Amino acid sequence: MTEKLPPELANYSPVSKYCLMKMYGEITFDLYTIPPGKQHFNEPVLLVRKNSMLSDVRDVIAASGFENFYIRKEEQENLHHLIENFIGMMVDDPLIPLKEKASIIYNCAANVMKDIFSDPRSGDNLKRTEDMTGNIIKFALSDQASIPSLLQLSSHDYYTFTHCLNVAVFSIGMWQTIYPARQDCLREFALGCILHDIGKSQIDDAILNKPGKLTDDEFTVMKKHPQHGYKLMAQAIPSISLDVILHHHEKHDGKGYPRGLKGDRISDYAKIAAIADVYDALTTKRSYAEARDPFKAVLTMKEEMVGHFEQDKFISFIHLLSGRNSGAVTK
Ligand SMILES: [Fe+2]
Repeated sequence: MTEKLPPELANYSPVSKYCLMKMYGEITFDLYTIPPGKQHFNEPVLLVRKNSMLSDVRDVIAASGFENFYIRKEEQENLHHLIENFIGMMVDDPLIPLKEKASIIYNCAANVMKDIFSDPRSGDNLKRTEDMTGNIIKFALSDQASIPSLLQLSSHDYYTFTHCLNVAVFSIGMWQTIYPARQDCLREFALGCILHDIGKSQIDDAILNKPGKLTDDEFTVMKKHPQHGYKLMAQAIPSISLDVILHHHEKHDGKGYPRGLKGDRISDYAKIAAIADVYDALTTKRSYAEARDPFKAVLTMKEEMVGHFEQDKFISFIHLLSGRNSGAVTK
């Protein structure tokens, strides 16, 4: 998810200079730098202490001419919280390069997802998730290269919260490919995708993170997560979003769960999320399976999951991956 850093930076995370230049208020973290010429030989040195105003931080940055900035990993959440207040403005800013924006959005969104999975009943966490979904959509619609650049940041190790984020990004890409003129319900759809596995927050960690195959009983417990998610969010989010949460494991041939819905009884929203969900799971390293490359994942979906997906949508998904519509989209 983040760039590979040399060992002396193991306890630090890089901070985008663009973030420091675009935000206002007080920094809630110590800011470090490595003076030019000392890269890769020294630990970062303290540049500005926490509780300094960002206007002063900018003066220090301008006077020093330094380009690389770091914070201690334990203070990373403080940075993400601060960035959340300015993320909409950053998405709109034409001076921030696309890849930089993607990195800021992805890391900030992953932090929001982590929080809502640890406390899904918090109204504040839901509001943050809704705002972040809006910003991801705004970013996705701003440039055809946005979705590929977001997916390139995806971790190849499985975490439920980054999986949900990836599924939302893939699903937004598919929606744009299949329904380019239908933006009206995109926000509700994307919110459902980003929260599709929120019910897993109610499943015991021993089952959720079990290395190896689940027993039949454990799988029965795991299969309850769509209903758990629906109940958790029933009063809080729109019906389109709830539909994705409840039905993303339904299969076109009627052999899915929880309701065994078949064909057109499954909504377009749930059908798209189901494809994105399976593809992301297959291309991510799990405790019991290596990550497949994109080609092998698609082959698995085509040959070993016959009847699971609606054919037209699956073909649109392959077009999206191959870049026929908007540039190659793979993790
Ligand atoms: Fe799921």
